[in-house]
Amino acid sequence: MELKIKPKDKLEGRIKVPGDKSISHRSVMLGSLAEGRTEVTGFLTGEDCLNTARAFQKMGVKIEGLGSEEMIIHGVGLNGLQEPESVLNLGNSGTSMRLMLGILAGQDFYTVVTGDESLSKRPMARVVDPLKERGAEIYGRDGGNLAPLTVIGQSLTNQRYESPVASAQVKSCILLAGLYANGTTEVVEPAKSRDHTERMLKYFGADLKIDGLKASVEGQPELKGQKIVVPSDISSASFFLVAALINQNAELVLENVGLNSTRAGILEVLTAMEADYELLDKRLENQEPIADIKVKSSNLQATTIGGEVIPKLIDELPILAVAATQAEGETVIKDAEELRVKETDRISAMVTELRRLGVKVEEREDGMIIPGPQSIKGGCSCCSYGDHRIAMSLAVAGLIAQEGIVITDADCIKTSFPNFMDLLKTI
Ligand code: S3P
Repeated sequence: MELKIKPKDKLEGRIKVPGDKSISHRSVMLGSLAEGRTEVTGFLTGEDCLNTARAFQKMGVKIEGLGSEEMIIHGVGLNGLQEPESVLNLGNSGTSMRLMLGILAGQDFYTVVTGDESLSKRPMARVVDPLKERGAEIYGRDGGNLAPLTVIGQSLTNQRYESPVASAQVKSCILLAGLYANGTTEVVEPAKSRDHTERMLKYFGADLKIDGLKASVEGQPELKGQKIVVPSDISSASFFLVAALINQNAELVLENVGLNSTRAGILEVLTAMEADYELLDKRLENQEPIADIKVKSSNLQATTIGGEVIPKLIDELPILAVAATQAEGETVIKDAEELRVKETDRISAMVTELRRLGVKVEEREDGMIIPGPQSIKGGCSCCSYGDHRIAMSLAVAGLIAQEGIVITDADCIKTSFPNFMDLLKTI
């Protein structure tokens, strides 16, 4: 699908972006492993989360309402999954593959997981190696680093794992594998990454403890089905936040946005950039903080984005790069080498496409430097590299590009934000 974006001199409205991707994935996983019904509302019907749900269906879990935002998952209990008859294809979703490897490693059956071209290139050794240390038997290309991966379920042992990377996917994989071990499984991370797995495990009744950068879980819990209300995804809301901030004449309200502090790093950065936004009607739902965000056009100031905030805004760096083009001064993005192993190399993709749009940007191994403010010329075709967040970031840049832009391969947006274009049209 080709997307044509024309410049727009005014943006206004009140919108609700779809459900949080990370929480939606976890609701299916824990709902499936729990005893009894789990009712989910606000589920993200993006392809990534649907792929997680289809995989659990193939392992014998009944899910009512799949494809809509309201679902009922009939949990089969920790040891109730069945061997799937065919390969589990997880499409573009790294979260599905990495978290599910933790669950599959401890089953008493055989599975093969695979994904699309992008997912088949992403490093899995970061979860496969620690799982093997716990007794897992996993085979794949490149010594078990690349999908397709074959998992021969084994009984797993508990252990302490010190992760070299601040990755919620790695932490969650080990904690989920820990459900199948006897005793305590501990994961220590170098900086705090999103903690939805920990919060939800606790909510489902697991014995889960957090002590600074350490999370630990007791094996063989009895998880009980729950009601889950998924908040709007702050990562999706970010495209609209930045669209409003860089537009000359904008006022938007984004409703019901999840503001878990391990996810809301973008708000810390936007405060440093002197963005005009307000949090309205702050509340708590299923242990997750939520608010409406009111945002207006702003004169942004440059800042340095690096260090411990990076895992808290890792998915927002492409759209923050767009914001940086309009900020006064030099914005530095550093310590973000993880961006190179996302759905595409997001540093290289953003640098290449911003340059194509007429923006000056310096590429660094761990980020980029963007002087500002700069006008965005546009008038060209851009490439998403099959990455949903690159496609949506470029679309937002297109709204202020003098000559608009065309994004040639925008189908990927449906992996996380199926109604992105519809919402963009309404504002
Ligand atoms: C996710 C964790 C992040 C993020 C991804 C979703 C999750 O990846 O980029 O979109 O739901 O756990 P890492 O934890 O590997 O950085």
